[in-house]
Amino acid sequence: MKKVLVTGGAGYVGSHTVKELVKNGYDVLVVDNLETGHRKLVDHRAKLEVADLADKEKLKSIFEKYIPEAVIDFAAYLAVGESMEEPEKYFQNNVANFINLLDAMNEVGCKLLIKSSSAAVYGNPTKESDIPWQEDFTECYRPEKSALLSGNWQGKKIAGEEFFQCFLDHYNSIYADRPELKLSSDEIIKLRIPMSIYGVTKLLDEIVMKKYDEFCGLKSIVLRYFNVCGADPSGGIGEAKPKPTTLMTLAIWQILGRVPELSIFGDDYSTSDGSGVRDYIHPSDLATGHIKALKFLVKNNKSDIFNLGTGTSSSVFEVISAVEKASGGKVKYTIKPRRSGDPAISISDPRKAEKVLNWKAKYNLRDMAETAWKWEINNSKIKIQKSK
Ligand code: UFG
Repeated sequence: MKKVLVTGGAGYVGSHTVKELVKNGYDVLVVDNLETGHRKLVDHRAKLEVADLADKEKLKSIFEKYIPEAVIDFAAYLAVGESMEEPEKYFQNNVANFINLLDAMNEVGCKLLIKSSSAAVYGNPTKESDIPWQEDFTECYRPEKSALLSGNWQGKKIAGEEFFQCFLDHYNSIYADRPELKLSSDEIIKLRIPMSIYGVTKLLDEIVMKKYDEFCGLKSIVLRYFNVCGADPSGGIGEAKPKPTTLMTLAIWQILGRVPELSIFGDDYSTSDGSGVRDYIHPSDLATGHIKALKFLVKNNKSDIFNLGTGTSSSVFEVISAVEKASGGKVKYTIKPRRSGDPAISISDPRKAEKVLNWKAKYNLRDMAETAWKWEINNSKIKIQKSK
């Protein structure tokens, strides 16, 4: 196994994985439309084709020319809030373009896929024992109504089951002539779990992958990431979003004076210090997780789903404190009301990945803060040099 095609390989987690792949001797072709990715994040040992997965013809010609043995797919939108305001855009990129990718793979006989998914598929815990999240939760929990929060569908404010039905009708109308992609009632029930359209698109992708396994033998590994933060220890690659929304990056940006203050969304949760608790995971750990998953898939030719998290919990205040220690600065913050849709706690049970893939995260919160800080400092230097 040598040739791997990586979609979205110029993005945050994608670029870390590409670096790890080339380090391990893989021949890597990155396919990225550079809408949110950056050419400079792609390791110089990998090739880059600038292409959009919406362009079926171009995609097909890339596959015919390169003939990859496996694909790792990172190409997706990932902002939870935005997905509620622009659900059709998320449908197009995260679902329709993904199906184009699966079709292109099938046409050239490439039958191995590693796919980035998210803890967002788990929605909100309904009871204490749901945490830590285990992979089979999405198989076992059968909600009667969709948990979708309020959003916007074709100019109309909408939420819950009504929002979900609009999304479902959209899928059904687009794939009316593809009986193999028809959703069963069990699959529809499952799709009611996530609270965001982002989460629904990821869970729908997982379901679609299962269908491709059944009808054309395309085997895949789903990796459900928890909260990603930190950067490659070299300081050379990291998250490069023009408008970050995640906690650690915003805390760093506050110290750097790029945002006037950090809002802490709620200090009245029933957690140790009242703030939200998450399972933070380093992108270099995700990168090794992808390689272990790829090796497992090549060896066993069997589809499966794994959480990628540390299994440990950190509160908002603990993240702030880690950033302050790493930077030597002080984060200016104010306490704001809870953010709509935030669960109090989200933690992974990573034991399945440890047992089956022999993978375990090695970076802790302090490493994440230190590497993220190093990257932001380096990245701002790059920008300053360019603008001179
Ligand atoms: N938070 C703040 N202030 C901020 C930003 C975040 O207090 O300005 C808090 C949140 O309330 C939460 C914690 O920090 O308690 C983490 O929030 P993030 O926005 O960093 O991350 P989320 O947990 O909301 O979401 C992340 C990714 C999603 C992914 C999800 C899966 O951004 O893409 O994890 O768990 F789906």
